[in-house]
Amino acid sequence: MPSLLFVCLDNICRSPLAEGALRAEAARRGLALTVDSAGTGDWHAGEAPDWRAQATARRHGVDVSGLRARQVTSDDFRRFDHVIAMDHENLADLRALAPADATARLSLLLDCVPGRAGQAVADPWFGDQAGFETTWTDVSAAARAIVDALAIPSDTAAGRPCN
Ligand code: 4NP
Repeated sequence: MPSLLFVCLDNICRSPLAEGALRAEAARRGLALTVDSAGTGDWHAGEAPDWRAQATARRHGVDVSGLRARQVTSDDFRRFDHVIAMDHENLADLRALAPADATARLSLLLDCVPGRAGQAVADPWFGDQAGFETTWTDVSAAARAIVDALAIPSDTAAGRPCN
């Protein structure tokens, strides 16, 4: 079963929304996968997603209230096929944190979305509710693209998504 870990700074805004969007899309399409999310930092470890993230997901029919923030561990780089960063700073931090025997492929979430490769999912934390809607638009587009990519048979266990 393919496994994906989404990573942002604090694991209370973007990456839990990415996790919720991918869980919902995979369930809708009948695709089995392992998905989790984490933060490069531990400032909000143990907390539920930000209430604005919860409200945005709920408006789109997805419940992320049961998720709890945690920090990335070195084991994540061996356990997951794909460790997927929300922005360039997250990606640089992940490259620095990765142990020598890491097997996970690192990428940016929007690499999966046609025309958006190399772009960041903007951090909505300091903005208003509208920013969380933009986050949802980004993560749900990526979730659809990831499920599309995983639905194509691949002979390499850790092949796909999305580059
Ligand atoms: P996230 O957003 O990395 O998408 O979870 C943030 C959440 C909290 C803070 C910054 C970004 N903060 O500064 O507390």
